[in-house]
Amino acid sequence: MNLFDVYPINEITIVKAKGSYVWDDKGDQYLDLYGGHAVISIGHTHPHWVKRIEAQLEQIAFYSNSIRIPLQQQLASRLGKLSGKEDYQLFLCNSGAEANENALKMASFHNGRKKVVAFSKSFHGRTSLAVTATDNKSYTAPVNENDNIIFLPFNDEKALEACFAKQGKEISSVIIEGIQGVGGINVAENSFLQKIRSLCDEHGAVYIADSVQCGYGRSGRFFSHDFAGVNADMYTMAKGMGNGFPVAGVIIAPHIKPKHFQLGTTFGGNHLACAAALAVLEVIEEEKLMGNAVTTGHYIKEALKEIPELKNVRGRGLMIGFDVPEELKDLKKNLLWNQKIFTGESKPNVIRLLPSLALKKRDAEDFIDAIKEEIALLKA
Ligand SMILES: Cc1ncc(COP(=O)(O)O)c(C=O)c1O
Repeated sequence: MNLFDVYPINEITIVKAKGSYVWDDKGDQYLDLYGGHAVISIGHTHPHWVKRIEAQLEQIAFYSNSIRIPLQQQLASRLGKLSGKEDYQLFLCNSGAEANENALKMASFHNGRKKVVAFSKSFHGRTSLAVTATDNKSYTAPVNENDNIIFLPFNDEKALEACFAKQGKEISSVIIEGIQGVGGINVAENSFLQKIRSLCDEHGAVYIADSVQCGYGRSGRFFSHDFAGVNADMYTMAKGMGNGFPVAGVIIAPHIKPKHFQLGTTFGGNHLACAAALAVLEVIEEEKLMGNAVTTGHYIKEALKEIPELKNVRGRGLMIGFDVPEELKDLKKNLLWNQKIFTGESKPNVIRLLPSLALKKRDAEDFIDAIKEEIALLKA
């Protein structure tokens, strides 16, 4: 049997990983500023994370949600404390798309409405409604198409106001990334998120903060939406939550009440996933990784701004993007093959940095030296 060929891959086989480094089967070392797409939050194979998962494996790895799993409550309490959303309720699932599906569905259960507002360049996942709310037609199959999604321009308050004025009574939810990831690191303005909050309040709609990529401390705050100083009704999370162990969740504000069987999943919230997620929160807190995201992110951004060839350096914390001019379009490829540095990209010509929140200043400096060297070579 062959693999279903849906991923364009780099011909690299990684066999070992530690902190911000990975090694291939030839023994070459790479600096990982991509984190397997923003997943590696506390660093590859962090010893505390490994130990906690191993210890849990010796006890019990899985049982379904038909029994009490105290680790789930421990996770909810810790997450509530660290995120500052202690009165929210946690629903656990397995992936970012699933978290968004459940949030959109729960919003619709809550207010009985169907319409969802989403924004240009959004990415919310590849399943059912999440993909329909994603602004990329090439991911949407005919079976996913429906009339319930309204796309508006990102950061356009006037368009949002006009939409609510016209269809406010039909809008179930507004879903937005605090910093668009796949769309190219576009930061939602504070005033825009505040406007979403006030319009949702006025019209009985639900504000869903997709924090799958920009959440879990990556921006320097637990949720990047926190910069706006308003609370969303739901926050979806995945990627950094398990540091590579598949675990995801939705936290739901107290006024949205659950009913049995509205949501559910076989694997969500299993013992092993909770142990991994707890280990991540413990390390984020213990090693003050949100503070590191602020300082190391600031260093990288300022250093990149000094490089005249790179345009529009943007982002928050360790979620950074910049535009690369057409004549340097091979920069990402050359960083990988010549300098052995993984970075991310968004089309066309945006490089994205999504490293571990524990990235060291020394590694950031190496990256800056490497990028300068590759730019000089490309211009020579
Ligand atoms: C903002 C955002 N939402 C949702 C998703 C989907 O997450 P998953 O791939 O875990 O389904 C992603 C994945 O890149 C994402 O960046």
